Amino acid sequence: MSSVAEAGVRSAAPKPQAAALPLADAKDLRVLVLNASPRADGNTMALTRLLLSHLPGAHEVLSAYDLAVAPCSACGACSGSGVCAIRDAMSVVWERIIRSDILVISSPLHFTSLTAPMVALISRWQSHWHFHSAGVPGPLGNRRRVGAVVSTGGADYPNMFECVRRVALAGFTTIGVEMCGLLSVSGTDAPGGFGAFSGETLREAKSLARSMLSRRRGRS
Ligand SMILES: Cc1cc2nc3c(=O)[nH]c(=O)nc-3n(C[C@H](O)[C@H](O)[C@H](O)COP(=O)(O)O)c2cc1C
Repeated sequence: MSSVAEAGVRSAAPKPQAAALPLADAKDLRVLVLNASPRADGNTMALTRLLLSHLPGAHEVLSAYDLAVAPCSACGACSGSGVCAIRDAMSVVWERIIRSDILVISSPLHFTSLTAPMVALISRWQSHWHFHSAGVPGPLGNRRRVGAVVSTGGADYPNMFECVRRVALAGFTTIGVEMCGLLSVSGTDAPGGFGAFSGETLREAKSLARSMLSRRRGRS
């Protein structure tokens, strides 16, 4: 995985050591999927389910389209307090993140990036920047959390998911979630483009899930 500095993410004070999870507790993991496909049962959710099939514990899916979280308005209210001035469904997202151990951002490619509702939602993580830059856990506590991003795109060219990866990394870093990787499928607009998963995709999903579980336990 690229380092935070390589990805152009803002630097901050070092975080306190997060609590590691004993092996036996894997079944108690809480996995939160933030899905931002306008098609609740489309290509991106199908790929997300493949990743989930390798992750034990309870899975919950929140739809960014249903929640319609407003984007950050850069009002600056949070800069001294960490408290956002906008009152909307973001409170539901924070509540679920607080309970989670594993976060999955799941979005199709729209104009080479995450879909607009997901970008809006992630922009609201700016209110956590106050705690991140001070190197203190804030309301999310110091629970160890890992994350990944899942995306599908109609085109097929090298590095087409780079923007998705970078936005997800910037968001996860801001809220103290360790980014474990990207699972993607390209060429979904081709006839039969989203048929059975290729052997490579099946292997990548399993390997990403293993990496997430292992990093959640505090092993790299
Ligand atoms: C508004 C819109 C913009 C899109 N932009 C891109 C794009 O920039 N690059 C790309 O490869 N595919 C693009 N696509 C295609 C989708 O990413 C692709 O069909 C994806 O697999 C759909 O996933 P879903 O079934 O979860 O909606 C776009 C589709 C829509 C509707």
